[in-house]
Amino acid sequence: MDNIQFNRHRRLRTTESMRSLVRETHLQKTDLIYPIFVVEGEQIKKEVPSMPGVYHVSLDYLTEEMNELVSLGVRSVIVFGVPAHKDEKGTQAYCETGIVQKAIRQIKEEVPSLTVIADTCLCQYTDHGHCGIVQDGEILNDESLELLTETAVSQAKAGADIIAPSNMMDGFVAAIRKGLDEAGFKNTPIMSYAVKYASSFYGPFRDAAHSSPQFGDRRAYQMDPANRLEAIREAQSDVEEGADFLIVKPGLSYLDIMREVKDRFNSPVVAYNVSGEYSMIKAAAQNGWVNEQEIVLEKLTSMKRAGADLIITYFAKDVARYLSE
Ligand code: PBG
Repeated sequence: MDNIQFNRHRRLRTTESMRSLVRETHLQKTDLIYPIFVVEGEQIKKEVPSMPGVYHVSLDYLTEEMNELVSLGVRSVIVFGVPAHKDEKGTQAYCETGIVQKAIRQIKEEVPSLTVIADTCLCQYTDHGHCGIVQDGEILNDESLELLTETAVSQAKAGADIIAPSNMMDGFVAAIRKGLDEAGFKNTPIMSYAVKYASSFYGPFRDAAHSSPQFGDRRAYQMDPANRLEAIREAQSDVEEGADFLIVKPGLSYLDIMREVKDRFNSPVVAYNVSGEYSMIKAAAQNGWVNEQEIVLEKLTSMKRAGADLIITYFAKDVARYLSE
């Protein structure tokens, strides 16, 4: 071994305190956004079968859930409504007394320190399960924008701090920005699902939100997983239209895209660690095949390393607990 030259990288890995000195990425509780599914009815706290540890809650359990989050140090939630009644035009999405509007109002009244993000889409509210208006089997773009804007404005009126449109119609940020401004919500930011792929990783969510398309799929509006440049074009449009945050979704299989979006734009980037990513870890952990805590921390750290500033994750409560240990 006398004459060889090499670098001693292991010097910086000798002890935990040495490793912590050179750690480049830090996961914090304030990075986390917790998704919550609110249902109509009373006394409901029902586990979603494909998502162990994730629940449908009715309004009477909602405040308790939110207080738990605050006590764990999580400061933001994204609210999904699961309405009892669906129709062709998703009326319950933009109805003042809709489940999501009620939930937002209640959280802002009873747990005002939480930042409430409203997911703005129609798929949970339409009987066909698509994210827009359907005519002759086609998902209409411009006609859908009107209803999505109405939805966003009703959510802002209910008190939402941030509007997060997830529908992937073209022009949705421009339309919603204009609608919010005209309704007096100039200061309500838009967290756009700028880059959203047509992904099989959403399977368990569609169980949770009862939002599977009743015919066809979402490939005519969500993106092809094979595309990278298209993601840049999507994000570019949203930035130009006024998006304040850019979501990349799903997270894990799209870390390359996350990095690129972070490098090219100056907006905060949000990773959506989606339902399928959650359920796969849960299933493996329940079988004893992986160490849940370690794998969750590794996975979320990888998203931050890839450029995410914030992470929407069903693991938010667990991670907040791990980080307190
Ligand atoms: C609504 C929406 C979806 C998700 C978030 N908002 C489902 C979809 O596009 O089918 C998926 C979230 C997850 O899988 O955790 N459009």
